Amino acid sequence: MELAFSYVSGYSVAILLLQMVVLPSEQFTVSSSGSRQVALVGGHAEFSCQLSPPQSAERMEVGWFHEHHSQLVYLYKDGEEVSGKSTYNYMNRTVLLKDSLGEGKVTLRIHNISVLDGGQYHCFFKDGDTSEEAIMDLRVAELTQTHVH
Ligand SMILES: *[C@@H]1O[C@H](CO)[C@@H](O)[C@H](O)[C@H]1NC(C)=O
Ligand SMILES: *[C@@H]1O[C@H](CO)[C@@H](O)[C@H](O)[C@H]1NC(C)=O
Repeated sequence: MELAFSYVSGYSVAILLLQMVVLPSEQFTVSSSGSRQVALVGGHAEFSCQLSPPQSAERMEVGWFHEHHSQLVYLYKDGEEVSGKSTYNYMNRTVLLKDSLGEGKVTLRIHNISVLDGGQYHCFFKDGDTSEEAIMDLRVAELTQTHVH
């Protein structure tokens, strides 16, 4: 009886160790859509990011970062938007579409695009010590009126 018991628990421990080594549960990658887009001055841009494999991001930190200005655009943490000085240039211009947060999909919409908004954006998902990101590129086009004399 004792022998059988220790055999079973030893086997369970081996399985557990194997799962910890082979399948770290916190591993994921991030992909984006709209990775190259053009927006008009005064228009809006949308950046979608998706966790793979699909999993809930409700307890994760999710954010967007503008590379050129080294500026945080939007940060979602502990279930709410974190705003302040760090997101000042984007304050009142961003909307997070998070209906699919449970499947790890989020979209950030930026309104009233200006030429200063052009450049590379990174979106990141952070879960504990694991952080992964995807890169997107925004080009801003200005409609100019041609005067014919
Ligand atoms: C954002 O909106 C609030 C309330 O309307 C306003 O007080 C604040 O100045 C606005 N911030 C920016 C950066 O436009
Ligand atoms: C859009 O941004 C410009 C500056 O880039 C500002 O002058 C204008 O008032 C803004 N429009 C709206 C609707 O917020």
